[in-house]
Amino acid sequence: MDQHDLDKKVLIVDDELDMLRMLAKVIAKKCGVEVETAPSAHEAMVKIESWIPDVVITDIKMPGMDGLEFLEWLTRFDSTITTIIMTGYGTIEMAVRALKEGAYDFFEKPFENEKIVHAVTRAMERTRLLRENLQLQQRLTENQRASGFVGKSRRLCQTLDLLARLAPSNATVLIRGESGTGKELAARALHAMSKRGRRRMVTVNCPALPEHILESELFGYRKGAFTGADSDKDGLFLEADGSTILLDEIADIPISVQTKLLRVLQEKEIQPLGQTRPIKVDVRVLASTNQDLEAKIERGEFREDLFYRLNVMTVTMPTLAEIVNDIPLLAQHFLELYSKEYDRSDLEFTPEALQCLMRRTWKGNIRELQNAINQAVLLCSGTRITPGDLISDSDVDIPGEAVANRTQACFLHLPYKKAKEEVLSYFTSSYLTNALTATRGNVSAAARQCGMERQAFQRLMRRHGIKSEDFR
Ligand SMILES: Nc1ncnc2c1ncn2[C@@H]1O[C@H](COP(=O)(O)OP(=O)(O)OP(=O)(O)O)[C@@H](O)[C@H]1O
Ligand SMILES: [Mg+2]
Repeated sequence: MDQHDLDKKVLIVDDELDMLRMLAKVIAKKCGVEVETAPSAHEAMVKIESWIPDVVITDIKMPGMDGLEFLEWLTRFDSTITTIIMTGYGTIEMAVRALKEGAYDFFEKPFENEKIVHAVTRAMERTRLLRENLQLQQRLTENQRASGFVGKSRRLCQTLDLLARLAPSNATVLIRGESGTGKELAARALHAMSKRGRRRMVTVNCPALPEHILESELFGYRKGAFTGADSDKDGLFLEADGSTILLDEIADIPISVQTKLLRVLQEKEIQPLGQTRPIKVDVRVLASTNQDLEAKIERGEFREDLFYRLNVMTVTMPTLAEIVNDIPLLAQHFLELYSKEYDRSDLEFTPEALQCLMRRTWKGNIRELQNAINQAVLLCSGTRITPGDLISDSDVDIPGEAVANRTQACFLHLPYKKAKEEVLSYFTSSYLTNALTATRGNVSAAARQCGMERQAFQRLMRRHGIKSEDFR
């Protein structure tokens, strides 16, 4: 007898008491499970509410409620309970109907013990599988809730599933995807679902740091390593010891830093500037990029060996176009977020507004959708958000000035800090868009025209989800 089966429960329902007793004895003995009996469907129902069985074996023809009705109730009560129908003479048709209604198996009286034992064993296995699957699904949605991802589309669920499976390992993961598709969110989810999750994840925004600073930030230095190094400094890798480091936008790091990074990934050790003895570190590395790394390798801007080290496992985040069916859910999620933030609990979308969101192209993906909803909450003067309230960065048909006036009027009602941030962000993206339109997407020319370094200009473009190819 399998120890494990002792916590398994079988309920037998039949109005023939001799049959009930005999069957209970056989099943308890041969299947090693706990068995209870009930002489009618009604009594079975009362019992089931407090003693949830794995398998129910029921007669089909009983006074009061018959087996079919009982089956219907049972399926509604808990569809993971597996049912086996017993039929007597002349009830085969009912048994066939029962199978159609979701009964798992049936056998005819009088029956052979062996057959019924076999049927019960299979039925218990089915219940076990169904319940495990249900638990798994619940865990997935819990993961999803915990990770901050919203959406039910197959493509997104597959991605989340992959993240959940990769999370527990220490493998380096490269997260790819267009801008605003949730790469950073994915990295946070990977970290949170790993055993390192309780520690703080260290995020390095690679392009934000100039070459020499990036190197000393990552690996640290010793006093006197260079002019100005007047004390020891631990790098971010050491800070992330025992935790995870996210190298955000890795495509932009200079070759010299790439070489050092390769060493960390290979040897699991770092060498602070000015120190000859390397230090062992236990850091899980996650990297993200929205760029074409293969093309960068071709051009000699990215080390191929580093690419292979990073690319052990790749997760590609879906674009918003690939998860169009999630747009209403996402929009609703952001609506709740910003309604709370701006204290506007009464807002809702009109169906036309949702349709409009689903039809639109979103170059900046989920981040752009999020911004559009943020602005809509600010712009909307009534209680319903209409298509007219939905402005997006890719809107070209609304004259810029009209948008600016309407938008800025709304910012005036916000707290100063928030208003300034909003206006600034709005200004920057219009400014960049304008320059790129004028130069037809030539970033160097646009940067020159604005009196900026090309790299700084690109950094701003990325932050605002603006892509040069959209202007060509
Ligand atoms: N499925 C999702 N559900 C809810 N929010 C999401 C989802 N995907 C992304 N977001 C939100 O969209 C915004 C952009 O996500 P994130 O910063 O992770 O994207 P990214 O790919 O790193 O963007 P970028 O390329 O601009 O750096 C964040 O506010 C994030 O919380
Ligand atoms: Mg990012």
